[in-house]
Amino acid sequence: MSSSNNCRHPLEQLKSKFTQALTSAFGSDLAGIDPMVVPASNPKFGDYQSNVALALSKQLGQPPRAIAQTLLQHLDVGGICQAPSIAGPGFINLSLEPTYLETRLRNILTNPRLGVEPVKIAKRVIVDFSSPNIAKEMHVGHLRSTIIGDSIARILEFCGHDVIRLNHVGDWGTQFGMLIAYLREAYPEALTKSDALDLGDLVAFYRQAKQRFDANDQFQAIARQEVVKLQAGDIESRKAWQLLCEQSRREFQVIYDLLDIELTERGESFYNPLLPDVVADLKHSGLLEESAGASCVFLEGFTNKEGNPLPLIVQKSDGGYNYATTDLAALRYRIEQDGAQRIIYVTDTGQANHFAQVFQVARRAGWLLENLEVVHIPFGLVQGEDGKKLKTRSGETVRLRDLLDEAIARAYNDLETRLKEEERGETEQFKAHVAKVVGISAVKYADLSQNRSSNYIFSFDRMLALQGNTAPYMLYAYVRVQGISRKGNIDLGQLGADTPILLQEYTELVLGKHLLQLSEVLTEVEQDLLPNRLCQYLFELSQKFNQFYDQCPVLQAEEPQRRSRLALCDLAARTLKLGLSLLGITVLERM
Ligand code: ARG
Repeated sequence: MSSSNNCRHPLEQLKSKFTQALTSAFGSDLAGIDPMVVPASNPKFGDYQSNVALALSKQLGQPPRAIAQTLLQHLDVGGICQAPSIAGPGFINLSLEPTYLETRLRNILTNPRLGVEPVKIAKRVIVDFSSPNIAKEMHVGHLRSTIIGDSIARILEFCGHDVIRLNHVGDWGTQFGMLIAYLREAYPEALTKSDALDLGDLVAFYRQAKQRFDANDQFQAIARQEVVKLQAGDIESRKAWQLLCEQSRREFQVIYDLLDIELTERGESFYNPLLPDVVADLKHSGLLEESAGASCVFLEGFTNKEGNPLPLIVQKSDGGYNYATTDLAALRYRIEQDGAQRIIYVTDTGQANHFAQVFQVARRAGWLLENLEVVHIPFGLVQGEDGKKLKTRSGETVRLRDLLDEAIARAYNDLETRLKEEERGETEQFKAHVAKVVGISAVKYADLSQNRSSNYIFSFDRMLALQGNTAPYMLYAYVRVQGISRKGNIDLGQLGADTPILLQEYTELVLGKHLLQLSEVLTEVEQDLLPNRLCQYLFELSQKFNQFYDQCPVLQAEEPQRRSRLALCDLAARTLKLGLSLLGITVLERM
Protein backbone atom coordinates (compact mmCIF):
# COMPACT_ATOMS: atom_id res chain seq x y z
CA MET A 1 0.00 0.00 0.00
CA SER A 2 2.61 2.53 1.07
CA SER A 3 4.80 2.02 -1.98
CA SER A 4 1.93 2.65 -4.36
CA ASN A 5 0.91 5.55 -2.16
CA ASN A 6 4.29 7.10 -2.77
CA CYS A 7 3.72 7.47 -6.48
CA ARG A 8 0.27 8.93 -6.17
CA HIS A 9 -0.07 12.65 -6.19
CA PRO A 10 -0.91 14.47 -2.96
CA LEU A 11 -4.54 15.08 -3.88
CA GLU A 12 -5.16 11.42 -4.52
CA GLN A 13 -3.39 10.46 -1.31
CA LEU A 14 -5.48 12.92 0.67
CA LYS A 15 -8.69 11.70 -0.90
CA SER A 16 -8.00 8.15 0.14
CA LYS A 17 -7.07 9.27 3.67
CA PHE A 18 -10.37 11.12 3.88
CA THR A 19 -12.31 8.15 2.60
CA GLN A 20 -10.74 5.98 5.28
CA ALA A 21 -11.51 8.54 7.98
CA LEU A 22 -15.11 8.92 6.85
CA THR A 23 -15.85 5.23 7.15
CA SER A 24 -14.00 4.81 10.41
CA ALA A 25 -15.81 7.82 11.89
CA PHE A 26 -19.31 7.31 10.48
CA GLY A 27 -19.48 3.72 9.29
CA SER A 28 -19.24 1.89 6.01
CA ASP A 29 -22.35 3.62 4.66
CA LEU A 30 -20.06 6.46 3.69
CA ALA A 31 -17.56 4.24 1.88
CA GLY A 32 -18.51 5.40 -1.59
CA ILE A 33 -18.93 9.05 -0.75
CA ASP A 34 -16.88 11.74 -2.50
CA PRO A 35 -14.59 13.19 0.17
CA MET A 36 -14.66 16.52 -1.69
CA VAL A 37 -10.98 17.26 -1.30
CA VAL A 38 -10.00 19.97 -3.77
CA PRO A 39 -7.16 22.44 -4.20
CA ALA A 40 -7.74 25.40 -1.87
CA SER A 41 -9.59 28.26 -3.49
CA ASN A 42 -7.27 30.71 -1.78
CA PRO A 43 -3.67 29.87 -0.81
CA LYS A 44 -4.28 31.78 2.45
CA PHE A 45 -6.31 28.80 3.66
CA GLY A 46 -3.69 26.21 2.79
CA ASP A 47 -3.16 23.90 -0.16
CA TYR A 48 -6.28 21.77 -0.11
CA GLN A 49 -9.70 21.93 1.46
CA SER A 50 -12.70 19.73 1.96
CA ASN A 51 -16.29 20.81 2.43
CA VAL A 52 -17.52 17.30 3.01
CA ALA A 53 -18.68 18.05 6.56
CA LEU A 54 -21.13 20.61 5.22
CA ALA A 55 -22.39 18.24 2.57
CA LEU A 56 -23.01 15.45 5.11
CA SER A 57 -24.79 17.56 7.70
CA LYS A 58 -28.28 16.65 6.57
CA GLN A 59 -27.57 12.99 6.04
CA LEU A 60 -25.87 12.59 9.43
CA GLY A 61 -28.22 14.94 11.26
CA GLN A 62 -25.35 16.80 12.90
CA PRO A 63 -23.99 20.32 12.60
CA PRO A 64 -21.12 20.49 10.07
CA ARG A 65 -18.56 21.68 12.60
CA ALA A 66 -19.23 18.67 14.81
CA ILE A 67 -18.87 16.38 11.83
CA ALA A 68 -15.59 18.04 10.90
CA GLN A 69 -14.32 17.59 14.46
CA THR A 70 -15.19 13.91 14.56
CA LEU A 71 -13.71 13.42 11.13
CA LEU A 72 -10.41 15.01 12.14
CA GLN A 73 -10.14 12.62 15.09
CA HIS A 74 -10.08 9.80 12.55
CA LEU A 75 -8.04 11.49 9.87
CA ASP A 76 -4.41 10.50 9.71
CA VAL A 77 -2.54 12.81 7.39
CA GLY A 78 0.68 12.81 9.41
CA GLY A 79 3.71 12.99 7.17
CA ILE A 80 1.67 14.66 4.43
CA CYS A 81 0.04 17.67 6.04
CA GLN A 82 0.39 19.86 9.04
CA ALA A 83 -2.42 19.50 11.59
CA PRO A 84 -5.66 20.20 9.66
CA SER A 85 -7.78 23.10 10.83
CA ILE A 86 -11.50 23.77 10.79
CA ALA A 87 -12.68 27.12 9.51
CA GLY A 88 -16.05 28.87 9.44
CA PRO A 89 -19.05 26.56 9.53
CA GLY A 90 -16.94 23.42 9.00
CA PHE A 91 -14.45 23.76 6.15
CA ILE A 92 -11.40 21.60 6.63
CA ASN A 93 -8.14 23.21 5.53
CA LEU A 94 -4.99 21.30 4.80
CA SER A 95 -1.42 22.54 4.32
CA LEU A 96 1.23 20.23 2.98
CA GLU A 97 4.23 19.54 5.18
CA PRO A 98 7.44 21.00 3.70
CA THR A 99 9.39 17.81 4.45
CA TYR A 100 6.75 15.84 2.55
CA LEU A 101 7.14 18.19 -0.41
CA GLU A 102 10.91 17.91 -0.26
CA THR A 103 10.83 14.12 -0.28
CA ARG A 104 8.44 14.00 -3.19
CA LEU A 105 10.44 16.47 -5.20
CA ARG A 106 13.53 14.39 -4.60
CA ASN A 107 11.62 11.34 -5.83
CA ILE A 108 10.58 12.93 -9.09
CA LEU A 109 13.98 14.47 -9.75
CA THR A 110 15.22 11.22 -11.23
CA ASN A 111 11.88 10.18 -12.71
CA PRO A 112 11.55 10.80 -16.45
CA ARG A 113 7.76 11.10 -16.13
CA LEU A 114 8.14 13.62 -13.32
CA GLY A 115 5.99 11.57 -11.02
CA VAL A 116 3.06 11.21 -13.38
CA GLU A 117 1.93 7.61 -13.24
CA PRO A 118 0.34 6.05 -16.31
CA VAL A 119 -3.36 5.24 -15.84
CA LYS A 120 -4.14 1.88 -14.28
CA ILE A 121 -6.69 0.97 -16.92
CA ALA A 122 -5.56 1.95 -20.40
CA LYS A 123 -8.32 2.47 -22.92
CA ARG A 124 -8.45 2.39 -26.65
CA VAL A 125 -9.32 5.94 -27.59
CA ILE A 126 -10.15 7.39 -30.97
CA VAL A 127 -9.60 11.07 -31.51
CA ASP A 128 -11.35 12.23 -34.69
CA PHE A 129 -9.80 15.57 -35.53
CA SER A 130 -8.61 17.93 -38.25
CA SER A 131 -10.75 16.28 -40.95
CA PRO A 132 -10.63 18.85 -43.77
CA ASN A 133 -12.48 18.39 -47.04
CA ILE A 134 -10.89 17.37 -50.33
CA ALA A 135 -10.62 20.10 -52.94
CA LYS A 136 -11.58 22.69 -50.40
CA GLU A 137 -9.42 24.99 -48.38
CA MET A 138 -8.38 23.91 -44.93
CA HIS A 139 -9.69 26.83 -42.90
CA VAL A 140 -9.09 28.19 -39.41
CA GLY A 141 -11.78 25.91 -38.03
CA HIS A 142 -9.75 22.95 -39.21
CA LEU A 143 -6.69 24.59 -37.68
CA ARG A 144 -8.38 24.67 -34.28
CA SER A 145 -9.51 21.09 -34.63
CA THR A 146 -5.99 20.06 -35.63
CA ILE A 147 -4.28 21.84 -32.75
CA ILE A 148 -6.78 20.87 -30.06
CA GLY A 149 -7.18 17.29 -31.29
CA ASP A 150 -3.44 16.77 -31.47
CA SER A 151 -2.92 18.06 -27.95
CA ILE A 152 -5.68 15.87 -26.56
CA ALA A 153 -4.21 12.87 -28.36
CA ARG A 154 -0.77 13.65 -26.95
CA ILE A 155 -2.09 13.99 -23.41
CA LEU A 156 -4.06 10.75 -23.58
CA GLU A 157 -1.07 8.94 -25.08
CA PHE A 158 1.13 10.22 -22.28
CA CYS A 159 -1.42 9.04 -19.73
CA GLY A 160 -0.91 5.58 -21.19
CA HIS A 161 -3.96 5.18 -23.41
CA ASP A 162 -3.89 3.52 -26.77
CA VAL A 163 -4.85 6.36 -29.07
CA ILE A 164 -5.89 6.19 -32.73
CA ARG A 165 -5.72 9.59 -34.39
CA LEU A 166 -8.21 9.61 -37.22
CA ASN A 167 -8.49 12.11 -40.02
CA HIS A 168 -12.10 11.83 -41.16
CA VAL A 169 -11.39 13.61 -44.41
CA GLY A 170 -14.36 14.72 -46.51
CA ASP A 171 -13.39 12.74 -49.59
CA TRP A 172 -16.79 11.59 -50.81
CA GLY A 173 -19.99 13.18 -51.97
CA THR A 174 -21.80 14.61 -54.95
CA GLN A 175 -19.32 17.46 -55.44
CA PHE A 176 -16.91 14.89 -56.88
CA GLY A 177 -19.13 14.46 -59.92
CA MET A 178 -18.60 18.08 -60.76
CA LEU A 179 -14.90 17.97 -60.01
CA ILE A 180 -14.27 14.86 -62.06
CA ALA A 181 -16.29 16.15 -65.00
CA TYR A 182 -14.28 19.33 -64.89
CA LEU A 183 -11.01 17.45 -64.62
CA ARG A 184 -11.83 15.46 -67.73
CA GLU A 185 -12.64 18.65 -69.56
CA ALA A 186 -9.79 20.87 -68.43
CA TYR A 187 -6.99 18.37 -67.82
CA PRO A 188 -7.73 15.35 -70.01
CA GLU A 189 -4.06 14.34 -69.88
CA ALA A 190 -4.34 13.88 -66.11
CA LEU A 191 -6.19 10.64 -66.67
CA THR A 192 -3.77 9.08 -69.09
CA LYS A 193 -0.51 10.08 -67.43
CA SER A 194 0.80 7.53 -64.97
CA ASP A 195 2.40 9.89 -62.46
CA ALA A 196 0.29 12.25 -60.45
CA LEU A 197 -0.28 15.58 -62.08
CA ASP A 198 0.12 18.81 -60.21
CA LEU A 199 -3.25 20.45 -60.54
CA GLY A 200 -2.02 23.60 -58.86
CA ASP A 201 -4.40 25.42 -56.59
CA LEU A 202 -7.28 23.04 -55.98
CA VAL A 203 -9.42 25.71 -54.48
CA ALA A 204 -9.24 27.73 -57.66
CA PHE A 205 -9.97 24.52 -59.52
CA TYR A 206 -13.05 23.97 -57.38
CA ARG A 207 -14.23 27.50 -58.06
CA GLN A 208 -13.86 27.07 -61.82
CA ALA A 209 -15.65 23.75 -61.74
CA LYS A 210 -18.49 25.31 -59.80
CA GLN A 211 -18.79 28.17 -62.27
CA ARG A 212 -18.97 25.75 -65.13
CA PHE A 213 -21.54 23.70 -63.25
CA ASP A 214 -23.75 26.69 -62.51
CA ALA A 215 -23.56 28.03 -66.06
CA ASN A 216 -24.02 24.95 -68.19
CA ASP A 217 -26.90 22.47 -68.09
CA GLN A 218 -25.14 19.92 -70.22
CA PHE A 219 -22.15 19.99 -67.90
CA GLN A 220 -24.50 19.49 -64.96
CA ALA A 221 -25.90 16.36 -66.55
CA ILE A 222 -22.38 15.02 -67.14
CA ALA A 223 -21.44 15.80 -63.55
CA ARG A 224 -24.43 13.83 -62.29
CA GLN A 225 -23.48 10.88 -64.44
CA GLU A 226 -19.96 11.08 -63.03
CA VAL A 227 -21.28 10.63 -59.51
CA VAL A 228 -23.13 7.51 -60.56
CA LYS A 229 -20.05 6.15 -62.32
CA LEU A 230 -17.84 6.88 -59.35
CA GLN A 231 -20.28 5.19 -56.99
CA ALA A 232 -20.39 2.18 -59.31
CA GLY A 233 -16.61 1.89 -59.16
CA ASP A 234 -15.83 2.91 -62.75
CA ILE A 235 -12.04 2.67 -63.14
CA GLU A 236 -11.49 5.98 -64.86
CA SER A 237 -13.72 7.88 -62.47
CA ARG A 238 -11.92 6.30 -59.56
CA LYS A 239 -8.62 7.39 -61.00
CA ALA A 240 -9.81 10.96 -61.40
CA TRP A 241 -11.12 10.93 -57.85
CA GLN A 242 -7.81 9.56 -56.62
CA LEU A 243 -5.93 12.34 -58.40
CA LEU A 244 -8.02 14.99 -56.73
CA CYS A 245 -7.53 13.40 -53.34
CA GLU A 246 -3.80 13.11 -53.79
CA GLN A 247 -3.51 16.73 -54.73
CA SER A 248 -5.41 17.80 -51.64
CA ARG A 249 -3.46 15.43 -49.48
CA ARG A 250 -0.22 17.01 -50.60
CA GLU A 251 -1.51 20.42 -49.67
CA PHE A 252 -2.76 19.27 -46.28
CA GLN A 253 0.53 17.54 -45.60
CA VAL A 254 2.42 20.82 -45.91
CA ILE A 255 0.36 22.15 -43.01
CA TYR A 256 0.69 18.96 -40.97
CA ASP A 257 4.46 18.99 -41.42
CA LEU A 258 4.68 22.60 -40.36
CA LEU A 259 2.60 21.86 -37.29
CA ASP A 260 4.23 18.50 -36.59
CA ILE A 261 0.95 16.61 -36.62
CA GLU A 262 0.50 12.90 -37.10
CA LEU A 263 -2.78 11.53 -38.34
CA THR A 264 -4.13 8.38 -39.90
CA GLU A 265 -6.33 9.20 -42.82
CA ARG A 266 -9.57 7.31 -42.91
CA GLY A 267 -11.88 9.46 -44.94
CA GLU A 268 -15.59 9.30 -45.51
CA SER A 269 -15.11 7.13 -48.60
CA PHE A 270 -13.74 4.36 -46.40
CA TYR A 271 -17.19 3.87 -44.90
CA ASN A 272 -19.02 4.02 -48.19
CA PRO A 273 -19.35 0.24 -48.61
CA LEU A 274 -20.74 0.02 -45.07
CA LEU A 275 -23.62 2.44 -45.53
CA PRO A 276 -26.29 -0.02 -46.75
CA ASP A 277 -25.61 -2.10 -43.69
CA VAL A 278 -26.26 0.83 -41.39
CA VAL A 279 -29.62 1.40 -42.99
CA ALA A 280 -30.42 -2.30 -42.73
CA ASP A 281 -29.44 -2.36 -39.09
CA LEU A 282 -31.58 0.65 -38.24
CA LYS A 283 -34.47 -0.92 -40.07
CA HIS A 284 -33.95 -4.13 -38.16
CA SER A 285 -34.03 -2.33 -34.82
CA GLY A 286 -37.30 -0.69 -35.85
CA LEU A 287 -35.99 2.85 -35.84
CA LEU A 288 -36.36 3.55 -39.53
CA GLU A 289 -39.37 5.33 -40.95
CA GLU A 290 -40.25 6.44 -44.44
CA SER A 291 -40.93 10.10 -44.91
CA ALA A 292 -41.45 11.61 -48.35
CA GLY A 293 -39.55 8.75 -49.91
CA ALA A 294 -36.55 9.14 -47.60
CA SER A 295 -35.54 6.73 -44.86
CA CYS A 296 -35.15 8.49 -41.58
CA VAL A 297 -35.07 8.17 -37.83
CA PHE A 298 -37.32 10.56 -35.94
CA LEU A 299 -35.30 12.14 -33.20
CA GLU A 300 -36.25 12.58 -29.57
CA GLY A 301 -35.83 16.08 -28.26
CA PHE A 302 -35.30 17.70 -31.66
CA THR A 303 -38.28 19.40 -33.21
CA ASN A 304 -38.96 21.47 -36.27
CA LYS A 305 -40.72 24.85 -36.34
CA GLU A 306 -44.12 23.22 -36.04
CA GLY A 307 -43.04 21.34 -32.96
CA ASN A 308 -42.95 17.96 -34.67
CA PRO A 309 -40.09 15.52 -34.17
CA LEU A 310 -37.20 16.23 -36.53
CA PRO A 311 -36.13 13.40 -38.82
CA LEU A 312 -32.51 12.43 -39.30
CA ILE A 313 -32.35 11.35 -42.93
CA VAL A 314 -30.10 8.35 -43.39
CA GLN A 315 -31.02 7.60 -47.00
CA LYS A 316 -32.44 10.16 -49.36
CA SER A 317 -35.29 9.42 -51.77
CA ASP A 318 -32.78 9.12 -54.64
CA GLY A 319 -30.91 6.44 -52.70
CA GLY A 320 -28.05 8.72 -51.73
CA TYR A 321 -26.59 8.91 -48.25
CA ASN A 322 -25.68 11.80 -45.97
CA TYR A 323 -22.89 13.13 -43.80
CA ALA A 324 -24.82 11.67 -40.85
CA THR A 325 -25.11 8.22 -42.44
CA THR A 326 -21.35 8.14 -42.85
CA ASP A 327 -20.88 9.17 -39.24
CA LEU A 328 -23.20 6.40 -38.14
CA ALA A 329 -21.20 3.89 -40.15
CA ALA A 330 -17.95 5.31 -38.78
CA LEU A 331 -19.19 5.11 -35.22
CA ARG A 332 -20.29 1.52 -35.66
CA TYR A 333 -16.98 0.58 -37.26
CA ARG A 334 -14.99 2.25 -34.52
CA ILE A 335 -16.89 0.39 -31.85
CA GLU A 336 -17.03 -3.00 -33.52
CA GLN A 337 -13.81 -3.16 -35.52
CA ASP A 338 -11.47 -0.76 -33.73
CA GLY A 339 -12.70 -1.76 -30.29
CA ALA A 340 -12.77 1.85 -29.18
CA GLN A 341 -13.79 2.58 -25.60
CA ARG A 342 -13.73 6.32 -25.87
CA ILE A 343 -14.43 8.24 -29.07
CA ILE A 344 -13.71 11.95 -29.16
CA TYR A 345 -14.83 14.24 -31.99
CA VAL A 346 -13.17 17.61 -32.29
CA THR A 347 -15.15 20.08 -34.41
CA ASP A 348 -16.63 23.53 -34.03
CA THR A 349 -19.75 24.15 -31.95
CA GLY A 350 -21.77 24.38 -35.16
CA GLN A 351 -21.76 20.59 -35.41
CA ALA A 352 -23.00 19.99 -31.87
CA ASN A 353 -26.50 19.06 -33.05
CA HIS A 354 -25.18 16.78 -35.74
CA PHE A 355 -23.23 14.77 -33.20
CA ALA A 356 -25.99 14.77 -30.61
CA GLN A 357 -28.30 13.33 -33.27
CA VAL A 358 -25.85 10.71 -34.46
CA PHE A 359 -25.11 9.66 -30.89
CA GLN A 360 -28.80 9.46 -30.12
CA VAL A 361 -29.50 7.16 -33.05
CA ALA A 362 -26.52 4.99 -32.14
CA ARG A 363 -27.73 4.75 -28.56
CA ARG A 364 -31.28 3.84 -29.60
CA ALA A 365 -29.91 1.29 -32.04
CA GLY A 366 -28.10 -0.33 -29.14
CA TRP A 367 -24.59 0.25 -30.45
CA LEU A 368 -23.29 2.16 -27.45
CA LEU A 369 -22.06 -0.57 -25.20
CA GLU A 370 -21.56 -0.02 -21.54
CA ASN A 371 -18.17 1.51 -20.68
CA LEU A 372 -18.11 3.28 -24.00
CA GLU A 373 -17.93 7.03 -24.06
CA VAL A 374 -18.67 9.00 -27.20
CA VAL A 375 -18.19 12.70 -26.90
CA HIS A 376 -18.16 15.73 -29.13
CA ILE A 377 -15.83 18.39 -27.85
CA PRO A 378 -16.85 21.62 -29.47
CA PHE A 379 -14.83 24.76 -29.94
CA GLY A 380 -15.72 28.35 -30.75
CA LEU A 381 -14.90 30.56 -33.69
CA VAL A 382 -11.65 32.27 -34.53
CA GLN A 383 -12.32 35.96 -34.88
CA GLY A 384 -10.35 38.85 -36.31
CA GLU A 385 -9.34 41.76 -34.10
CA ASP A 386 -12.60 43.44 -35.09
CA GLY A 387 -14.50 40.60 -33.41
CA LYS A 388 -15.84 39.37 -36.74
CA LYS A 389 -15.00 36.21 -38.59
CA LEU A 390 -11.29 36.15 -39.41
CA LYS A 391 -10.65 37.63 -42.87
CA THR A 392 -7.69 39.02 -44.78
CA ARG A 393 -7.42 42.79 -45.24
CA SER A 394 -9.05 42.45 -48.63
CA GLY A 395 -11.90 40.51 -47.07
CA GLU A 396 -11.05 37.01 -48.26
CA THR A 397 -10.86 33.91 -46.11
CA VAL A 398 -7.44 33.45 -44.63
CA ARG A 399 -5.36 30.61 -46.02
CA LEU A 400 -3.82 28.55 -43.27
CA ARG A 401 -0.51 28.38 -45.00
CA ASP A 402 -0.36 32.19 -45.14
CA LEU A 403 -1.39 32.51 -41.56
CA LEU A 404 1.36 30.21 -40.32
CA ASP A 405 3.93 31.82 -42.60
CA GLU A 406 3.02 35.21 -41.27
CA ALA A 407 3.39 34.04 -37.67
CA ILE A 408 6.87 32.79 -38.50
CA ALA A 409 7.80 35.98 -40.37
CA ARG A 410 6.66 38.13 -37.48
CA ALA A 411 8.54 35.99 -35.00
CA TYR A 412 11.60 36.46 -37.19
CA ASN A 413 11.23 40.25 -37.14
CA ASP A 414 10.76 40.33 -33.38
CA LEU A 415 13.86 38.23 -33.00
CA GLU A 416 15.96 40.50 -35.22
CA THR A 417 14.89 43.52 -33.21
CA ARG A 418 15.74 41.80 -29.96
CA LEU A 419 19.11 40.59 -31.23
CA LYS A 420 19.98 44.11 -32.30
CA GLU A 421 19.05 45.49 -28.89
CA GLU A 422 21.09 42.85 -27.16
CA GLU A 423 23.93 43.33 -29.67
CA ARG A 424 23.96 39.64 -30.41
CA GLY A 425 24.99 38.13 -33.69
CA GLU A 426 23.44 34.78 -34.62
CA THR A 427 23.58 32.62 -37.71
CA GLU A 428 20.80 32.61 -40.25
CA GLN A 429 20.13 28.99 -39.41
CA PHE A 430 19.65 29.84 -35.74
CA LYS A 431 17.31 32.70 -36.53
CA ALA A 432 15.23 30.68 -38.95
CA HIS A 433 14.87 27.85 -36.46
CA VAL A 434 13.93 30.08 -33.54
CA ALA A 435 11.43 32.00 -35.68
CA LYS A 436 9.75 28.83 -36.83
CA VAL A 437 9.46 27.33 -33.36
CA VAL A 438 8.27 30.60 -31.81
CA GLY A 439 5.81 31.38 -34.62
CA ILE A 440 4.18 27.96 -34.68
CA SER A 441 4.18 27.64 -30.90
CA ALA A 442 2.56 31.03 -30.56
CA VAL A 443 -0.30 30.06 -32.86
CA LYS A 444 -0.83 26.73 -31.13
CA TYR A 445 -0.61 28.16 -27.65
CA ALA A 446 -2.96 31.05 -28.36
CA ASP A 447 -5.53 28.53 -29.45
CA LEU A 448 -5.02 26.03 -26.64
CA SER A 449 -4.85 28.55 -23.81
CA GLN A 450 -8.45 29.67 -24.34
CA ASN A 451 -11.29 27.64 -22.99
CA ARG A 452 -12.02 25.85 -26.23
CA SER A 453 -15.75 26.42 -26.13
CA SER A 454 -15.40 30.18 -26.38
CA ASN A 455 -14.61 32.19 -29.49
CA TYR A 456 -11.19 33.75 -29.52
CA ILE A 457 -9.64 36.73 -31.17
CA PHE A 458 -6.68 36.00 -33.34
CA SER A 459 -3.95 38.57 -32.69
CA PHE A 460 -0.38 38.07 -33.84
CA ASP A 461 0.82 40.85 -31.54
CA ARG A 462 -0.69 39.29 -28.49
CA MET A 463 0.31 35.69 -29.18
CA LEU A 464 3.92 36.65 -29.96
CA ALA A 465 4.42 38.88 -26.92
CA LEU A 466 7.24 37.91 -24.59
CA GLN A 467 5.08 38.83 -21.60
CA GLY A 468 1.77 37.35 -20.57
CA ASN A 469 0.16 33.98 -21.08
CA THR A 470 1.95 33.26 -24.34
CA ALA A 471 4.20 30.59 -25.81
CA PRO A 472 7.22 32.94 -26.03
CA TYR A 473 6.93 33.73 -22.31
CA MET A 474 7.11 30.06 -21.45
CA LEU A 475 9.80 29.20 -23.96
CA TYR A 476 11.79 32.02 -22.44
CA ALA A 477 11.45 30.63 -18.91
CA TYR A 478 12.83 27.35 -20.21
CA VAL A 479 15.71 29.11 -21.95
CA ARG A 480 16.54 30.91 -18.69
CA VAL A 481 17.23 27.59 -16.99
CA GLN A 482 19.37 26.40 -19.87
CA GLY A 483 21.30 29.66 -19.50
CA ILE A 484 22.00 28.89 -15.85
CA SER A 485 23.28 25.48 -16.73
CA ARG A 486 25.55 26.89 -19.45
CA LYS A 487 26.81 29.71 -17.27
CA GLY A 488 27.61 27.42 -14.35
CA ASN A 489 28.84 24.71 -16.69
CA ILE A 490 26.52 22.27 -14.95
CA ASP A 491 24.83 19.25 -16.43
CA LEU A 492 21.46 19.41 -14.70
CA GLY A 493 20.75 15.85 -15.75
CA GLN A 494 23.47 14.71 -13.37
CA LEU A 495 21.63 15.79 -10.22
CA GLY A 496 21.09 12.44 -8.54
CA ALA A 497 18.58 11.08 -6.07
CA ASP A 498 20.79 12.25 -3.20
CA THR A 499 20.35 15.91 -4.16
CA PRO A 500 19.14 17.89 -1.16
CA ILE A 501 15.85 19.72 -1.64
CA LEU A 502 15.22 22.57 0.76
CA LEU A 503 12.13 24.69 0.58
CA GLN A 504 13.11 27.51 2.93
CA GLU A 505 12.34 30.67 1.04
CA TYR A 506 8.72 31.45 0.30
CA THR A 507 9.24 31.40 -3.48
CA GLU A 508 10.93 28.01 -3.20
CA LEU A 509 7.99 26.59 -1.32
CA VAL A 510 5.50 28.02 -3.79
CA LEU A 511 7.45 26.67 -6.76
CA GLY A 512 7.95 23.29 -5.10
CA LYS A 513 4.23 22.88 -4.46
CA HIS A 514 3.36 23.83 -7.99
CA LEU A 515 5.83 21.36 -9.46
CA LEU A 516 4.02 18.58 -7.67
CA GLN A 517 0.66 19.44 -9.20
CA LEU A 518 1.38 18.25 -12.74
CA SER A 519 -0.23 14.85 -12.16
CA GLU A 520 -3.33 16.43 -10.75
CA VAL A 521 -3.68 18.71 -13.73
CA LEU A 522 -3.17 15.93 -16.24
CA THR A 523 -5.70 13.73 -14.48
CA GLU A 524 -8.17 16.57 -14.86
CA VAL A 525 -7.42 17.16 -18.52
CA GLU A 526 -7.66 13.45 -19.20
CA GLN A 527 -11.25 13.65 -17.97
CA ASP A 528 -12.44 17.06 -19.10
CA LEU A 529 -10.43 17.30 -22.30
CA LEU A 530 -9.67 20.97 -21.64
CA PRO A 531 -6.05 21.63 -22.60
CA ASN A 532 -6.35 25.24 -21.43
CA ARG A 533 -5.99 23.92 -17.88
CA LEU A 534 -2.60 22.56 -18.73
CA CYS A 535 -1.72 25.92 -20.33
CA GLN A 536 -2.78 27.74 -17.17
CA TYR A 537 -0.68 25.39 -15.08
CA LEU A 538 2.38 25.97 -17.25
CA PHE A 539 1.84 29.71 -17.25
CA GLU A 540 1.69 29.76 -13.46
CA LEU A 541 4.73 27.53 -13.35
CA SER A 542 6.69 29.99 -15.49
CA GLN A 543 5.59 32.85 -13.26
CA LYS A 544 6.49 31.00 -10.10
CA PHE A 545 9.81 29.99 -11.52
CA ASN A 546 10.58 33.57 -12.52
CA GLN A 547 9.64 34.82 -9.05
CA PHE A 548 11.86 32.22 -7.46
CA TYR A 549 14.71 33.04 -9.79
CA ASP A 550 14.39 36.76 -9.13
CA GLN A 551 14.42 36.21 -5.36
CA CYS A 552 16.86 33.37 -4.88
CA PRO A 553 20.44 33.33 -6.13
CA VAL A 554 21.24 29.97 -7.65
CA LEU A 555 24.82 29.75 -8.88
CA GLN A 556 25.96 32.18 -6.17
CA ALA A 557 24.22 30.34 -3.34
CA GLU A 558 26.08 28.34 -0.68
CA GLU A 559 25.76 24.57 -0.50
CA PRO A 560 23.48 22.80 0.17
CA GLN A 561 21.13 25.57 -1.11
CA ARG A 562 22.97 25.73 -4.40
CA ARG A 563 22.30 22.16 -5.39
CA SER A 564 18.75 22.33 -4.10
CA ARG A 565 18.04 25.39 -6.21
CA LEU A 566 19.67 23.84 -9.25
CA ALA A 567 17.35 20.90 -8.76
CA LEU A 568 14.34 23.22 -8.61
CA CYS A 569 15.51 24.87 -11.83
CA ASP A 570 15.92 21.50 -13.45
CA LEU A 571 12.47 20.35 -12.35
CA ALA A 572 10.88 23.56 -13.55
CA ALA A 573 12.54 23.25 -16.96
CA ARG A 574 11.69 19.59 -17.37
CA THR A 575 8.10 20.18 -16.32
CA LEU A 576 7.82 22.98 -18.84
CA LYS A 577 9.36 20.87 -21.56
CA LEU A 578 7.09 17.93 -20.86
CA GLY A 579 3.97 20.07 -20.48
CA LEU A 580 4.66 22.02 -23.64
CA SER A 581 5.34 18.83 -25.57
CA LEU A 582 1.84 17.70 -24.62
CA LEU A 583 0.55 20.85 -26.26
CA GLY A 584 2.56 20.01 -29.37
CA ILE A 585 5.17 22.66 -28.62
CA THR A 586 8.91 22.06 -28.71
CA VAL A 587 11.29 24.02 -26.52
CA LEU A 588 14.42 25.91 -27.54
CA GLU A 589 17.76 25.76 -25.78
CA ARG A 590 18.50 29.38 -26.66
CA MET A 591 16.34 32.07 -28.21
N1 ARG B 1 -15.12 17.30 -42.72
C1 ARG B 1 -15.90 17.90 -41.67
C2 ARG B 1 -15.84 19.41 -41.80
O1 ARG B 1 -14.97 19.94 -42.43
C3 ARG B 1 -15.44 17.52 -40.29
C4 ARG B 1 -15.54 16.06 -39.96
C5 ARG B 1 -15.54 15.82 -38.49
N2 ARG B 1 -15.60 14.43 -38.15
C6 ARG B 1 -16.68 13.65 -38.28
N3 ARG B 1 -16.60 12.38 -37.95
N4 ARG B 1 -17.83 14.11 -38.72
O2 ARG B 1 -16.68 20.08 -41.23
